[in-house]
Amino acid sequence: MNIIFLGPPGAGKGTQSKLLEDRYGLVQISTGDMLRAEVARGSETGKQAKSLMDTGRLVPDELIIAMLQSRIAQPDCAKGFILDGFPRTTGQAEALDGMLKASHQQIDIVLFLDVDEDILADRISGRFTCAKCGTTYNEVSNPPKVAGVCDACGSHEFKRRADDKRETVVERLKEYRKLTAPILPFYEKTGRLHAINGMLPASEVTAQIEAVLAKS
Ligand code: AP5
Ligand code: ZN
Repeated sequence: MNIIFLGPPGAGKGTQSKLLEDRYGLVQISTGDMLRAEVARGSETGKQAKSLMDTGRLVPDELIIAMLQSRIAQPDCAKGFILDGFPRTTGQAEALDGMLKASHQQIDIVLFLDVDEDILADRISGRFTCAKCGTTYNEVSNPPKVAGVCDACGSHEFKRRADDKRETVVERLKEYRKLTAPILPFYEKTGRLHAINGMLPASEVTAQIEAVLAKS
């Protein structure tokens, strides 16, 4: 089974896709995480992406499509994958369909996490992650059980994303409205799109997703 998570910045795509990865034995692929790893490595791709990411703009389709194509060709993806943050433009959605058709694969389900914009900025500004294992937390909705200690690995070190500043979030939302929201009809017309209320507590969002997957 291959799944796409769509939704605006801060909708909960990363949170939910990591849960599904564990529960359904699928591979989670976050293009944002892949790009941040390239930036940290100082690679050519990272250098091209950094200034765009820091200002909340999308990186060019050619760069991200090539990166995604080589990732889904890896053997671990044969068991099924979850795309978190891809596709983000009509060009990416069409390229994805083309590359999957060529390898006799398909996207089975598209989960759209629907969250009102006024909630997103608060969610993002409260987000922080464990610097060691990457577990995501939120100051308000999802703090660690013991303050300052990662639940998953016990580390005391946390970090925040460079693009989680309020002014950058405004730009990320603009990019979402202009370039990503228009791809929803692309999936709706093939009956693959399922809208999920992403404004409920995370466990209730998971329950809605599991109900959709159980029927598929
Ligand atoms: P990317 O890393 O993909 O960021 P994003 O899409 O903006 O999404 P986020 O990671 O901010 O949010 P999320 O939906 O995963 O929310 P999360 O679960 O963390 O992209 C970053 C940049 O990379 C882009 O701007 C672009 O430059 C580039 N890029 C990446 N992919 C690209 C592509 N395909 N094409 C071109 N450029 C690309 O949750 C957010 C917070 O809310 C957390 O603190 C969490 O704990 C909390 N939370 C989660 N669920 C709930 C809930 N139900 N209730 C309350 N709080 C919740
Ligand atoms: Zn940790």
